[in-house]
Amino acid sequence: MLPHRLQSALSDLDRLGLRRCRRVLDGVQGVRVTLDGREYLSFSSNDYLGLAGHPDIAMAARAAVAEFGVGAGAAHLLTGHHRLHHELESELAGLVGLPAALLFSSGYMANLGVVQALLDRHGEVFEDRLNHASLVDAALLSRAKLSRYPHLDLAALERQLANSAARTKLIATDTVFSMDGDQACVAELLVLAERYDAWLYLDDAHGFGVLESLAPSPSPLPPRLIYMATLGKAVGVSGAFVAGSGELIEWLVNKARTYVYTTAQPPLLAAAVRASLKLQAAEPWRRRHLIDLVGRLRAGMADLPWALFDSATPIQPLLVGDAQAALALAEGLRQRGILIPAIRPPTVPAGTARLRISLSASHSFEDVETLLASLRALAAS
Ligand SMILES: Cc1ncc(COP(=O)(O)O)c(C=O)c1O
Repeated sequence: MLPHRLQSALSDLDRLGLRRCRRVLDGVQGVRVTLDGREYLSFSSNDYLGLAGHPDIAMAARAAVAEFGVGAGAAHLLTGHHRLHHELESELAGLVGLPAALLFSSGYMANLGVVQALLDRHGEVFEDRLNHASLVDAALLSRAKLSRYPHLDLAALERQLANSAARTKLIATDTVFSMDGDQACVAELLVLAERYDAWLYLDDAHGFGVLESLAPSPSPLPPRLIYMATLGKAVGVSGAFVAGSGELIEWLVNKARTYVYTTAQPPLLAAAVRASLKLQAAEPWRRRHLIDLVGRLRAGMADLPWALFDSATPIQPLLVGDAQAALALAEGLRQRGILIPAIRPPTVPAGTARLRISLSASHSFEDVETLLASLRALAAS
């Protein structure tokens, strides 16, 4: 984009209802937030378990700062790999039942790093069409051939695998689709990966902590499985990890460029993640309540003119269709003190603009009733 074209390109985005803008959050992330100086009931974070602002996690981070300072100071392969990182990796591997794990600074970097470390231009990456943008970018960066199959269409995937002459094949999928809330069938994908000698890369950004995305899978998990989850969503902190065989993790330590060539995350974040995992284990009510909230929302939507996507996860998108109409509905809710983002192209396909309602264990049933009442009022207006 040439400098003098930027202003008119931004105006084009305005005209199409596609311009994005940021609101400034003050205070703690949660279901009640202050944005641009106004309080809202929010259904718009990925803080599914309501842990991002939890005082125990903040306390663990403070204790780690007091003991170890803030900055990691160097990349993991130099002197930045702290004992707290190392212990957290073992804990995460154990939690998902795989031999080893590796921390990355974000899910985006994990996806770029893994795919680029395993494939080159002789490889082929097979992706669900609704995969997260970072998985698409990962395939492009690796220079492997990218083949996308229609959403959840495993027969189409199998045809693509059967026709591939690539030296290395990798199937990559979101386990929970971030803008639709539906789920990939991991067991069937594992069978295909086995049959066609392919890696299976699972991006469980929206499942980890909330669902058992790896169940039911064979035990022990096959070495061709690569599992990635982020630590900034249900875990409520920041970063990501990749888990798999010991050899895979050793290869990534050596070859994943987004691991090798970046400063390690502050150790305090590892301490915060460990505190979050402890809370999750001690408070199973968070997951149960979340599932109950999903049921309550879906039952309450029955008499409204908009349909929810077919989702059993805390991501409950409400289909509007037109981008401007989605923006208008989000604005109507905002004026009533409720915050839900309108998701528009190019994040989702044209004609499928939606409000992405995301539930959190910190929501009460009354919060869901407040949302339903506002939607009813807007439907009648
Ligand atoms: C499916 C999926 N994968 C990866 C990411 C990237 O993770 P991170 O935010 O840690 O970079 C996201 C969202 O942020 C996501 O929704």
